[in-house]
Amino acid sequence: MRVRSKWFAVLMVLILSVALAATGCGGKKEGEQKAAGTDDKTIKIGILAPLTGDVKTFGESTVNGAKLAVEQRGGKVGDFSIVVVPADDRNDPTEAVNVATKLISQDKVVGIVGSVTSKTTIPVSKLANDNKVVMISGTATNEKVTVDEGKRKEFVFRACFIDPFQGKVAAKFALENLKKKTAAVLYDQGNDYTIGLANNFKENFTKGGGTITDFLAYSKDDTDFSAVLTNIAKKNPEVLFLPDYYQKVSLIGKQARAKGINAVFIGGDGWDSSDLDYKTMDGGYFTNHYSADDPSPQVKKFVEDYKAKYGKTPDALAALAYDACSLLLNAIQTANSKDPVKIKDAMQATKDFQTVSGKVTFDKDGNPIKAATILQVKADGKQAFVTTVSP
Ligand code: PHE
Repeated sequence: MRVRSKWFAVLMVLILSVALAATGCGGKKEGEQKAAGTDDKTIKIGILAPLTGDVKTFGESTVNGAKLAVEQRGGKVGDFSIVVVPADDRNDPTEAVNVATKLISQDKVVGIVGSVTSKTTIPVSKLANDNKVVMISGTATNEKVTVDEGKRKEFVFRACFIDPFQGKVAAKFALENLKKKTAAVLYDQGNDYTIGLANNFKENFTKGGGTITDFLAYSKDDTDFSAVLTNIAKKNPEVLFLPDYYQKVSLIGKQARAKGINAVFIGGDGWDSSDLDYKTMDGGYFTNHYSADDPSPQVKKFVEDYKAKYGKTPDALAALAYDACSLLLNAIQTANSKDPVKIKDAMQATKDFQTVSGKVTFDKDGNPIKAATILQVKADGKQAFVTTVSP
């Protein structure tokens, strides 16, 4: 009986192998294996970004930038073929975790470029770290992305500066360059990015001798800001600090002007979009990561290449996604392996790597030390370069 079942088993294996070889399902056809991302020489990278929803220009730029970085390497890093898997998080934290879970467990990505905003990147960074998937956001500036409650998420990095720096730059600019003494702050109470930046601005503006006339919050779905704006108007501040994304600040800006508030609008990187209301926000200033007008050779080349491929000028989101993806590809090359621990170690050891938005060396928290750019909004849709502030 034992002998018979053994021969039976051998026979079954033989029949199965022949059948699989005949149908090409045995994992031997290279093309099919590559598509599934299961062979040793294919590396899948997820690009997590808001491709729909309230900040969809962020997502479009991010996917474009990251894809360009892969394409310029001929889709290869050393012996590895790189397959890019874009995923839409709709700028919603729950959706972001859902699609990231799929990227990790079904697509089996080795790394993730993304996400874009802090509110989606913070929950996803925990998931990626717990699953040992290397993740690098180009643009999420809140501190909690790489460190939460004092604990470093070792697999998580970013290609941009962080909000304590961004808030300080904005406050100093208002005080020292614009010589303003009073400011009101209006922020979204449910969004880590806007809360963080609001606090960082307030702290530094006060420290520098300025006065915060109002520090008021709204909720994500609010569209009528008359109550808070009436309060702000009474104090007549010289600056209205609006640390939110382009759609919301455009809406608030319009209502503020209608209320007779003539303060200078100042904001953060979240303003950077071709869909900002440039007429309303005319004359306002915002801190950002790069300027397409920067004459440095790396920016010039990037702007040319991006324009040639996509027919438009790249914004900071595109530049930082290109940078984040390049940093990940570089780490894969250094590690020369699919092993996430080796890639993470190579990433952490990155030194003076030239990106479009500056040279990157990571600190112990996975953050690069980078300069900020200040841009001025012009009614005709331009962003005029004002100055660069180094840390
Ligand atoms: N810094 C923003 C955040 O963390 C995202 C962002 C970066 C938006 C750059 C636009 C440009 O939420």
